[in-house]
Amino acid sequence: MEFCGATTLAWTNSLYTSLHFPPPFPRREVRRFRVCCLNDIDSAQSEKGNQMTVSVTGATGFIGRRLVQRLHADNHGIRVLTRSRSKAQSIFPVKDFPRIVIAEEPEWKDCIQCSTAVVNLAGMPISTRWSPEIKKEIKTSRIRVTSKVVDLINGSPDELRPRVLVSATAVGYYGSSETEVFDEQSPSGNDYLAEVCREWEATALRVNKDVRLALIRIGVVLGKDGGALAKMVPLFMMFAGGPLGSGKQWFSWIHVDDMVNLIYEVLCNPSYKGVINGTAPNPVRLEEMCKQLGTVLGRPSWLPVPDFVLKAILGGGASVVLEGQRVLPAKAKELGFPFKYPCVKDALESILS
Ligand SMILES: NC(=O)c1ccc[n+]([C@@H]2O[C@H](COP(=O)([O-])OP(=O)(O)OC[C@H]3O[C@@H](n4cnc5c(N)ncnc54)[C@H](OP(=O)(O)O)[C@@H]3O)[C@@H](O)[C@H]2O)c1
Repeated sequence: MEFCGATTLAWTNSLYTSLHFPPPFPRREVRRFRVCCLNDIDSAQSEKGNQMTVSVTGATGFIGRRLVQRLHADNHGIRVLTRSRSKAQSIFPVKDFPRIVIAEEPEWKDCIQCSTAVVNLAGMPISTRWSPEIKKEIKTSRIRVTSKVVDLINGSPDELRPRVLVSATAVGYYGSSETEVFDEQSPSGNDYLAEVCREWEATALRVNKDVRLALIRIGVVLGKDGGALAKMVPLFMMFAGGPLGSGKQWFSWIHVDDMVNLIYEVLCNPSYKGVINGTAPNPVRLEEMCKQLGTVLGRPSWLPVPDFVLKAILGGGASVVLEGQRVLPAKAKELGFPFKYPCVKDALESILS
């Protein structure tokens, strides 16, 4: 079914303009989203206008749940592709999210064929202790889900195939360095996380060439109630807020609101394709990050947190913090993406105060 809602488009665009954001649906390229109506939820929605239907893997995670909230607030159709319906139902209760559809793996095919776009965020968390089995699962969980999503997209009849795939990857792709600066053109590193990211991206790159693919190399996402910050803050309080490890490592971070806005923009704006670094424009050395954290938390920044404590708490995933990289979001800047939190101080204040 094809439709196009001028009213919603105009309203959305004027809201974005008043917030100094570029409109998600530029007037010069009003696009018609295909919506396949499986049920009354979509039928009701389709009457409202120019909406997307987005299938999301990893929707129950730290980034995914905020993305779902954002899409839901803007009345887009959402398919939560999960391993556990009951977990997803507890995160997205019907009373708060009456229009979303929750689907376990056997139903993913129908969901994907009813979607205009797919966002792929699933993967086993990396901030755990890294036994050989866990390292294997960190990689295979990402490749397994990405491969399934790509196969379902590729196997869809042309008229039902989603037009956009936004697939997560990480700045770990570049390896670590205290001196180099990485952008989307930089080569991959040679450590374990770089290998994971290369294979994860290569799996997404198998998607049908008619599908607009965006690979977002995500930095350390900062937000309330989860992510790296939730683990770092108690550590920081315990050790009176000193640098973590040597403090010289680069920390390429992004505020969760900017992460969600970037994914949203990629979904709506056809200029966003290929590799896109999902990091703030001002990465900092860890000592600076800790200094700012100390200021915001009202703690002095003097005692260094020893590496072994960090490793005990973050497991192998501590390497993300202890062996960082300086990554710049060249593509997002070139496209004029409006970062709400370009500086770490403002980002931390918004999250912790
Ligand atoms: N947060 C960051 O700082 C950051 C940085 C760089 C890259 N990334 C990447 O961005 C993606 C989203 O990040 P996030 O922080 O939102 O992740 P998250 O909170 O750890 O959530 C990921 C989701 O993946 C699914 N999942 C977990 N273990 C899995 C397994 N063994 N097999 C298949 N699916 C599994 C779960 O969804 P269900 O239980 O519903 O299936 C979970 O909610 C991840 O792939 C992550 O690697 C995140």
